[in-house]
Amino acid sequence: MRTHFCGELNKSFLEKEVTLCGWVNRRRDHGGVIFLDLRDKIGLAQIVINPETKETFKLAESIRNEFVLKVKGKVIARDTEMINKKISTGEIEVLANEIEILNTSKPIPFQLDSEDTSEEVRLKYRYLDLRRHEMQKRLRLRSKVTKYIRDFMDKNDFIDIETPFLTKATPEGARDYLVPSRTHEGSFFALPQSPQLFKQLLMMSGFERYYQIVKCFRDEDLRADRQPEFTQLDVETSFMNEIEITSLMEEMIRGLFQEVLNVSLPKKFSSISYHESMKLYGVDRPDLRIPMQMVDMNETMKDVEFKVFSGPANSDKARVAALKIPGGASISRKQIDDYTKYVSIYGAKGLAYIKINEDGPSSPIIKFLGEDITDKVIEKTKASIGDIIFFGADTTKIVNESLGNLREKLARDLNLFDSEWAPVWVFDFPMFDVEDDGTLNAIHHPFTAPSVDSQTLVKEPEKSLSRAYDLVINGSEVGGGSIRIHKSDMQKTVLKLLGIDDDEARNKFGFLLDALDYGCPPHGGIAFGLDRLVMILCEADSIREVIAFPKTQTAACLLTNAPTIIPKVQLRELKLKTI
Ligand code: AMO
Ligand code: AMP
Repeated sequence: MRTHFCGELNKSFLEKEVTLCGWVNRRRDHGGVIFLDLRDKIGLAQIVINPETKETFKLAESIRNEFVLKVKGKVIARDTEMINKKISTGEIEVLANEIEILNTSKPIPFQLDSEDTSEEVRLKYRYLDLRRHEMQKRLRLRSKVTKYIRDFMDKNDFIDIETPFLTKATPEGARDYLVPSRTHEGSFFALPQSPQLFKQLLMMSGFERYYQIVKCFRDEDLRADRQPEFTQLDVETSFMNEIEITSLMEEMIRGLFQEVLNVSLPKKFSSISYHESMKLYGVDRPDLRIPMQMVDMNETMKDVEFKVFSGPANSDKARVAALKIPGGASISRKQIDDYTKYVSIYGAKGLAYIKINEDGPSSPIIKFLGEDITDKVIEKTKASIGDIIFFGADTTKIVNESLGNLREKLARDLNLFDSEWAPVWVFDFPMFDVEDDGTLNAIHHPFTAPSVDSQTLVKEPEKSLSRAYDLVINGSEVGGGSIRIHKSDMQKTVLKLLGIDDDEARNKFGFLLDALDYGCPPHGGIAFGLDRLVMILCEADSIREVIAFPKTQTAACLLTNAPTIIPKVQLRELKLKTI
């Protein structure tokens, strides 16, 4: 239907006859001349309709925004004062001699180029929202990312294998989405939280290198970087250790950034242990664009009179830590109150501080600490005039979460980033997270191999580390994986430590335990959150911005109104009753 795209035209097309198709982005009447901005997938072109072309002009008068047109005309140069340097087609326009209205449009419910349309409206009319240049750009970038990944995996001899969606629960720490079975009364399929068990089975089947770009389903509390259905680049390999796997994946990520953004990431990504990350940054997904680190103050504060500090300093489940903000002495009282409120979300009971002014340190707590201790704090944090030092004193968890998040908030508020991209591998995670009552939970998933033998694991589960690794970019966990357990004894030991007895283990994972006994190779892999990766590459604020049809914070689809109530007959067929 068309000879050219609106967005490809420029001065080199002058005097050419073209036929364009697209949507009316905007219509303007200018003293007898009508201008239309016609939009297609490539961009915008300005169409001019002169009153001399009588019929066309008459038709153009009836045209409204978002009508779909076919326009025939000649490419001409714009008058000098009409040139728009901001767009690639800004030096030309198309003088129309024939217009066909392919379809009309009702006035659309929001202005496409408006910045303040609510997300609710955008999601309800997502098909219109996706017409916006920004959304088109993001989804195009996403497609470029998957193309790059597929080429990379293919070049490295990975094969793409599909795994089932109607399956049994895969424990990744969230709730399952369940699907009732009509043919097996009272039984349910679970949608996979990840293809974890199937990809391990594929290693037992001898494929050696598998990948899949695959949907995963998790019923969990949603945040800006979480969706109930999301996409993983899922990878598994045999006979490769953690260094080999992470190096290969690092090569892929480096190539991806080069290809998509023309950004050269470091030749070797940095790495940090979980323990070090928690100590210095308070989180297991450190944003290394921010130079500030937490400084441990337990030794310094052990004997101070100030109980708020000496209490936690003398307990092994608590800590006192300081965070120096260069140039932070200019933060006002009011702002400090706001930051105190902010850390209270994480359970902090206060936010003590010392400002280093021209005339010396000032703070409401110096009178409790004394000059010697204050000097020691300044020395340990290497603070100088113009800085502020914040303190957290509480259980280790509260201090880490509050100062860890405060560090990131301050960096955003005061623009304290010293680089644009900071990828880092986090290694040496503990195997288990220990609850107050001693219950153990897997930090990754129960198939992650420990870095100790089973005797040590049973003796000191809380101290044992795993062979897991996460890739963090700019403070966002974009991928995680591990070397897996490949012997059934070890698998049984880990399941037992997690409180899953033999019967339950057989019932839930019998197929895996059996498979481990038939010549299972050492294997390991990783999964990347594709939505998160694309979000970072687009510098978007939420993964909803890089998913064509996302769900809301309450896991609903505003476009289709899913989920919906099911008619009684359908429930009866499934032998289900709602209460
Ligand atoms: P994990 O649970 O860490 O590992 O998931 C891998 C990556 O998937 C992304 N991700 C999510 N993205 C959007 N919405 C969600 N709800 C969501 N949950 C996770 C994250 C995360 O790093 N089977 C293991 C991988 C393995 O061991 O190979 C797994 O699923 O970016
Ligand atoms: P108070 O003696 O309670 O007025 O506290 C003195 C200072 O210590 C105030 O600046 C509080 O914000 C701060 N503070 C109180 N509790 C804590 C805590 N657990 N961690 C860090 N600072 C605290």
